[in-house]
Amino acid sequence: MPESDVLGIENIPLESSSPSGGVISVWTINRPDKLNSLNSEVHSAIKSACKLAESNDDVRVIVITGAPPNEPPEGKRSKPKSFVAGADISEFSGMRSEQARPIFDDNSWEAIWNLTKPTIAMIDGFALGGGSEIALSCDLRIATPQSKFGTPEINLGLIPGGGGTQRLCRLLGYGRAIEMVMSGEMVSGEDAYRIGLINHLVEPDQLLLKVMEIAQNLGSKSPHTIKVAKAAVRASLELPFTQGILAERDAFCALFDTADKEIGVNAFLNRENAEWKGA
Ligand code: COA
Repeated sequence: MPESDVLGIENIPLESSSPSGGVISVWTINRPDKLNSLNSEVHSAIKSACKLAESNDDVRVIVITGAPPNEPPEGKRSKPKSFVAGADISEFSGMRSEQARPIFDDNSWEAIWNLTKPTIAMIDGFALGGGSEIALSCDLRIATPQSKFGTPEINLGLIPGGGGTQRLCRLLGYGRAIEMVMSGEMVSGEDAYRIGLINHLVEPDQLLLKVMEIAQNLGSKSPHTIKVAKAAVRASLELPFTQGILAERDAFCALFDTADKEIGVNAFLNRENAEWKGA
C-alpha cells in the first residue's frame, strides 16, 4: 500500500487469520508539529488509503492513530500529544462556501465511515473537531485518560462539518451531544468513557497492547460475516425499528447459504478452530 509523508501505513500480520495473509492496517496521521491536524494532503491520503484497504482482501482491520510529538528544539516546550486536533484551521481563513463545499462533499470522515471492515481509533491526546469526527467515524474508540475530546468549532464561528453533530447525537444522545456542540468544551478521557464516547479507557503504556488485542480478535473472525454484522448494526441508524428487524433477519438468513456458516457451526461441534473461507 503506498505511504505518504502525512499518513504512515504499517500492516501487522494477524496471528490467526483465515483466509491466510490477513493484516491489521495501522494508519498514523503524521503532522505532530501541527497536532496532526487535517490539511488537504491528509484528507486525500486517508481517502486513498480507504479505497485501497477496501479493495485489498488481506486488510481485515484498520486502526487509525496520531503520531506522537517530535522532540522539541533546544529550549522550546514539547508540543502536546494529539490524536488529531481538528481540521487545519489555517486552510479556513478566507475560504468561502464555494471552496468549502467540494472539500466537504468528498471527505475523509465519510470515506472511513463507509469502510465495510472493522475500524478502531487509537487515541492518546487531543481528539478535537475533525479529530473527534475521525474517531466517531470509526467503529471503536480506545483512549487514554489524558485524552481530550471536543467539538470546539463553535469558537471559530463554525459547527462540526465531518458528521459530528449526527454521529455524536446517535452515540451519546441529544442531551450530551447538544452540550458538547454548543459549548465547545472538552471532555476528559475518563468522562468520555463514562458517557460512552469511547469503548475502552487504557493507560498510555497499555494502549497499543489493548488495541492490538482487540484488532487481533476482530481479525480472527470470518471477513465476510464481520462485514454483514457491521452492515446490520449500521442499518439500525437508518431504518425504523421494524424494518431494521426485517433487515437483520434477511442478513441472518442469507448467511445460512455461506460456506463460513457451515465452517463455523461444524468447527464448534467438532471442537476445532474455524478455518474461514471468507464467503
Ligand atoms: N489547525 C492548525 N494548526 C493547529 C491546530 C489546528 N486545528 N491545532 C493546533 N495547531 C497548531 C498550532 O497552531 C501550533 O502551531 P505552531 O507551533 O506552529 O504555532 C501547534 O499546532 C501547537 O498548538 P498549540 O496551540 O501551540 O498547543 P497548545 O498546547 O497551546 O494548545 C490545543 C493545544 C489543542 C488546545 C490548541 O492547539 C487548539 O485549541 N487547537 C485547535 C483546536 C480546534 O479548534 N479544532 C477544531 C478545528 S475545526
